[in-house]
Amino acid sequence: MSLPKLILEQLANPAGLTGRLVLHRLNKANRGMNELPLRVVPISNTDHALEIGFGGGALLDKILSAGPSSVVGVETSDLAIRVVSSRYRHAIGRGKLKLVRSDAASMPFNDGAFSEIFCVNVIYFWPDVDQVFQELCRVTATSGQLAMCYQQRGPDQVISYNPSQVEQSLIDAGFTSAATTAGEDKWNDRFYCTVASKTVE
Ligand SMILES: C[S@@+](CC[C@H](N)C(=O)[O-])C[C@H]1O[C@@H](n2cnc3c(N)ncnc32)[C@H](O)[C@@H]1O
Repeated sequence: MSLPKLILEQLANPAGLTGRLVLHRLNKANRGMNELPLRVVPISNTDHALEIGFGGGALLDKILSAGPSSVVGVETSDLAIRVVSSRYRHAIGRGKLKLVRSDAASMPFNDGAFSEIFCVNVIYFWPDVDQVFQELCRVTATSGQLAMCYQQRGPDQVISYNPSQVEQSLIDAGFTSAATTAGEDKWNDRFYCTVASKTVE
């Protein structure tokens, strides 16, 4: 069953009091989906990691705990940036974490700036998925990896996401290989984490 329009809008861009509740809820409901990416793409203390659409910050927390050299989070929601800025003000103050308001389709970063990129439950909101995949490939370092996590069916329950199509689109965008791991939990049913790598040909 499709979620009410108000909730779909909040998932795409959390705002206001309802948005605060949605961000809180997302951290709980998406726990399983936010654990898988770091299992399939581990990070080390020399890495520069990026998360796209961090929402309530559940995965940012795990990325910071893994101790990379630096972490950048990108969001379109001003509320998500305010909430997460307040929670991680110490990491921001130490220069470990930077939060940037930007659309994933066009980001203010140099080519190859990040060794790992994580993105969970955001693909559903991109009008042009191929454009975003090209942008993600541009900012991925050579030898870097992207972990894209998504449910089999998006929140509107209309569009379904097929891992082999996602893998092919990532290769078409410039990544050199892509493979998918499946997961399942009571909140999100079946979900996928597609890892795309950018290696030297
Ligand atoms: C459904 S929430 C997922 C949040 C978190 N990743 C999780 O799984 O719990 C989607 C988030 O992506 C953000 N978002 C949507 N479109 C975006 C875009 N084009 N660029 C960056 N962030 C975007 C929204 O503001 C929202 O916080």
